Amino acid sequence: MASVTQLGYLGLSVADLDAWRKFAAEVLGLEAIDGPGGALLLRMDEYHHRFVLKAGSDDDVAFVGWEVADQRALGELAARLKGAGVEVVEGSADEARLRGVAELIKFHDPSGVPTEAYYGPLMSFERPFKSPRAISGFETGTMGLGHIVVRVDDAAKSLHFYRDLLGMRISDFIEMRMRRGRPTDTLSLTFMHCNPRHHSIAFGAIPAQKRLMHFMLQVKSIDDVGSTYYLAQDLGIPISGSLGRHTNDHMMSFYMRSPSGFEIEYGYGARTVDDATWKVQRHEAPSIWGHRGLAEPPKSPA
Ligand SMILES: [Fe+2]
Repeated sequence: MASVTQLGYLGLSVADLDAWRKFAAEVLGLEAIDGPGGALLLRMDEYHHRFVLKAGSDDDVAFVGWEVADQRALGELAARLKGAGVEVVEGSADEARLRGVAELIKFHDPSGVPTEAYYGPLMSFERPFKSPRAISGFETGTMGLGHIVVRVDDAAKSLHFYRDLLGMRISDFIEMRMRRGRPTDTLSLTFMHCNPRHHSIAFGAIPAQKRLMHFMLQVKSIDDVGSTYYLAQDLGIPISGSLGRHTNDHMMSFYMRSPSGFEIEYGYGARTVDDATWKVQRHEAPSIWGHRGLAEPPKSPA
């Protein structure tokens, strides 16, 4: 079965493109490129770009791009989606150009999140990525740009969609205590992978307005996490989760507020998944230590 191979690009609809241009370059360390039609493109590795930001009032995800190997795999995926009753349309030449891909198809996940699959990303090996900040760069390659966490309406339907139609595998679940919930309120998050990155997407029926909760960028050095943590604080950027290490992917990270209100996880040192040996796990806490502000601390047993 042809499955998606990585989270390849992310489209965002943002109210303040100028704020994003500055934030992306000066804080995240991404390279800003002027794209067609006034779009802001962000580069992080050998791909020409992996983020497409367009002016809009949503301040939320505009589309999620999943990579497949080639035209044949894209055709197989389109047929499988259509066979399951999902409406699939072909992306236009202009849409392919904006994303820097050869061809794409467009559809929606069960919660209505605009979702795309593509092959043939535009690469820029001839001009190596150079971060505008003094950081060591991002862990991407075949693991994709990072991960996203999205709010879904029905986790069971989403699991079916991402596993049985897109071909992803379950990594684990976290039964997470809600930030402002009653002590008994828990939130179940499902984490899914399509390559060695522990998860490329996680989802749950999160009580929030936006679809996109956060996206994660993984850097190559712990020092890049530490320096960015303090840089963000020096610049007055709200820290929504302090430094910490996650229980499931073992990522050491922190969370900061983006100009669009959703959060960005900036991390280092996650463990990877080997499908030959990985067994689905469950967790009751999101973090081994830290990440203060992200969730209520677990209560000690009465
Ligand atoms: Fe995350």
